[in-house]
Amino acid sequence: MASMTTLARKTRSAVAQTLFVATFALAGALCAAAQQSVAHEAKYLGPGSCSAVACHGGLAPMNVTPILQNEYSIWVVKDKHAKAWSVLQNPVSQRMANILGIGKAQAAPKCLACHALAITPAQKGRDFDNTDGVSCESCHGPSSNWLGPHTLKGATTVQNIALGMFDTKDVIKRAEGCMTCHIGTADKFVDHEMIAAGHPDLVFELDAYLAVEPPHWKANPDPFNGVRVWSVGQAVQLSESLKRLSRRANGPIWPEYAELDCMSCHHSLTKPEDSWRQNLGYHDRRPGNPAYNDAHYVVFRALLKDWDAGASSDLEKQLDVVYRETTKLNGDRKAIASAADSAAAISGSLAQRLNKMEFNRESTARLIRAICADADHISAGGVRSAEQATMALDSALIAYSKSAGNQPETRNAVNALFSQLDNPSAYNAPKFAAAMKHVSASLR
Ligand code: HEC
Ligand code: HEC
Ligand code: HEC
Ligand code: HEC
Repeated sequence: MASMTTLARKTRSAVAQTLFVATFALAGALCAAAQQSVAHEAKYLGPGSCSAVACHGGLAPMNVTPILQNEYSIWVVKDKHAKAWSVLQNPVSQRMANILGIGKAQAAPKCLACHALAITPAQKGRDFDNTDGVSCESCHGPSSNWLGPHTLKGATTVQNIALGMFDTKDVIKRAEGCMTCHIGTADKFVDHEMIAAGHPDLVFELDAYLAVEPPHWKANPDPFNGVRVWSVGQAVQLSESLKRLSRRANGPIWPEYAELDCMSCHHSLTKPEDSWRQNLGYHDRRPGNPAYNDAHYVVFRALLKDWDAGASSDLEKQLDVVYRETTKLNGDRKAIASAADSAAAISGSLAQRLNKMEFNRESTARLIRAICADADHISAGGVRSAEQATMALDSALIAYSKSAGNQPETRNAVNALFSQLDNPSAYNAPKFAAAMKHVSASLR
């Protein structure tokens, strides 16, 4: 289950952009500029309409236009999204579909919703094909109304957006876009039933996931951009996951196990004298009850406490109710939903403010120290919280090192956190807390 964080660790250290050499033959496609858009209701035309060499299908990055022009080539060869439909044919997906009784996974709307696009026949352009997986239009919006115009000389982002292009430049909108699939919506979701059938648990963190996705965009020159992306991503993710909690608390199945700390049910047992859980005690819940998974909040709260004490205490009040009621086996579902809705609204407006914030060397160092100062609380929140802390410290350290110089000892300390996540059921909170404290102690 720690595959993503393991991957993040591997890929992120190789920040250097290597020249991209593709070894495939390009699918023949017309350049978008040659096509005229006639449709009014936006249609999805498929990635073939972006793949011409003169458009987004170049083999090497170019400097003629402000964009790289090899976006298609990067996506089709390196980006996992291009394989999102094919994984529905693998044995794990087939078994999942059998367990769930939904026919073939590669044709099931329940799966296509995130592994391709679940759209109406009227929205399908002639060349739209589910087998393209998560492609350009999944993130940039249906292109029929802007495909032609966006290639014209002088076309601006504002004009493109007015024609229905999705605004991926705005970090809030970008985060919301990713999270429609990586957190879920009312129409598409991953719940414990699907997880028990074999689906991976959805774990997300905007900056880490953007860093792992092979970039087909130019890097932002601000060294602290990653910290802002992390913080905005946290606020949006908190908001989206609380909306999901609210839907579930109002829904037919409750408790929904996927909202709880997975490892409170799934960890391995030890002799009582070796149990760190019994040693820590169960301060805030009846011993033996599974806890609410507050991984979406425990790390962000360190930033918030330092940044805006008032907003922090408003949010904490609502989240206390969420935690208390969710952690009961027969909690008050109305109270959960209403506190979750209020907290979602607060974090939504925090996202707006954070989006305008600028981080620097000092505030980034303070963030690293604030997160580590909360080590005992964060680590007691379980392996999911530990994972969020690790991704946050990784993002912040990358930014900090760009300005303050390499921090080999701290880098090793963050890598040591990643290794503690490799086997989630063997996770040990006190050990993780000690390793977190080493991160801030070694920072120069
Ligand atoms: C709410 C969106 C959503 C839905 C619905 C969904 N998935 Fe996924 N699925 C994802 C995401 C996101 C990932 C990648 C998770 C990660 O790595 O963080 C994923 C990963 C997977 C993987 C692992 C892929 C790999 O590379 O190892 C399989 C297999 C899979 N999904 C199958 C299915 C099947 C079968 C269905 C339908 C029963 C389904 N999914 C429905 C979002 C979804
Ligand atoms: C998983 C989501 C996703 C998919 C799939 C995707 N993109 Fe993107 N794309 C993004 C994000 C996010 C950005 C903005 C990154 C930034 O500005 O830092 C972006 C940026 C771009 C840019 C640069 C825009 C600019 O003004 O700088 C181009 C061009 C682009 N994408 C084209 C494509 C094409 C063509 C495809 C399909 C072959 C594609 N994208 C597939 C998410 C995606
Ligand atoms: C339409 C749904 C959808 C959207 C939107 C989407 N993703 Fe994904 N994403 C998926 C699915 C499905 C997978 C799993 C693909 C696979 O394993 O083959 C995935 C996989 C990934 C992975 C690989 C994870 C791993 O374990 O290797 C990364 C990184 C990722 N997405 C980042 C993003 C980012 C960043 C955005 C927003 C800019 C985004 N995604 C938007 C559906 C989506
Ligand atoms: C309230 C307890 C509880 C919580 C919380 C919980 N689960 Fe489960 N889970 C179960 C039970 C019970 C089963 C069925 C086990 C069986 O049949 O042997 C199960 C089954 C599973 C399985 C299939 C087991 C197998 O051997 O293949 C997986 C995987 C899984 N859960 C993952 C998760 C993840 C990931 C989370 C958190 C997002 C989670 N669970 C949260 C109780 C829980």
